[in-house]
Amino acid sequence: MKAIAVNQDTGELEYIDLPEPQIQTPYEVKLKVLEVGVCGTDQEIIEHKIGKAPPGEKMLVLGHEMISEVIEVGSKVTTLKKGDLAIVTVRRGCGKCPFCLKGCFDYCSGIEYIERGIRCLSGFNAEYVVDDEAFIVKAPESFRHFGFLVEPMTISEKAIEELIRIQKGRIPGWSPNGKKAVVIGLGPIGLLACMVLTLRGFKVYGQDIVSNDSIKAKIVHQMGGIYINGKEIRYSDPTLAGQFDVIVEAAGIAAICFQCLDLLAPNGVCAYTGIPNLQTNSPLPAGKIIKRLVLKNQILFGSVNASKHHWEKAIQDLESAEKKWKGIANKMITTRMPYTNFKGAFTRRSQKDIKIVLSWV
Ligand code: BGC
Repeated sequence: MKAIAVNQDTGELEYIDLPEPQIQTPYEVKLKVLEVGVCGTDQEIIEHKIGKAPPGEKMLVLGHEMISEVIEVGSKVTTLKKGDLAIVTVRRGCGKCPFCLKGCFDYCSGIEYIERGIRCLSGFNAEYVVDDEAFIVKAPESFRHFGFLVEPMTISEKAIEELIRIQKGRIPGWSPNGKKAVVIGLGPIGLLACMVLTLRGFKVYGQDIVSNDSIKAKIVHQMGGIYINGKEIRYSDPTLAGQFDVIVEAAGIAAICFQCLDLLAPNGVCAYTGIPNLQTNSPLPAGKIIKRLVLKNQILFGSVNASKHHWEKAIQDLESAEKKWKGIANKMITTRMPYTNFKGAFTRRSQKDIKIVLSWV
């Protein structure tokens, strides 16, 4: 079968031929891949910043955001049947650390975790995929053309669930209702974070640097949110500074991660979801930041990956969002290409693009 892989020695993207995977245990499911989203992480893998091919191999099949159709199930599979739409999750933990032993692979504290399409496991840019039922979630039929958004949505689901828990755990009677939340960086994770925050009852602001009539701004408006154009207004502006109970940082730019703290209200919480370029060494007003964190009881935390329940929640929320704001998921898909155009898909970079997707059908 055909697959798209990156050569870890040269960084070249290549079209490769692999043996078609087959079900080997009664718990496995064979899937026909329908579509695979392209993510910033794929670009970082190509640029050698993160990622690892499976042990002993130099080619890593890319792709960790997918939607597929079940074509065969093992004899002990109970939750999926032929013809169902399904999504394969990304991370498998080390299985040994205290977090994995509790089933929380997303908190795996070992260095041995593996991730499909990212670290030591083949990804989904291939004609077929086989995996254990335990790592697959069923998706509704309506998700056929946007189901690959579920994976980036899980990242937002987890970060937002955590920040709500943190606030509820420390402030008696705290509720998201009417609280102001701002999302910095309106790529897919940022826009999906706006969606989850709105569904939880926050008053949502989304900030990017594209124009006020851009598709990103329109998506924020469609959900009843407010778009902030970072080219026109600074975080230190008195109408913004200190105004937000919650920040979700989804731009993954180190300097912005700290500058945006100007926006945080007393007792506020800020979640980081992006991984910045490690070469960035921007000078930091460290004293000012720490003094403010202490005197204002503010919390900063990082969040990565997600548990199976976040996948199920992401599916529920995306379904509710589609009912509430018809066609919103499709608006995030700015480019759809046949998989044969893979080189263009992985090298394209435009602030206007939201989600690029490769079609395998
Ligand atoms: C993926 C996560 C993964 C993380 C770190 C992100 O792009 O969405 O599932 O855990 O990269 O590898």
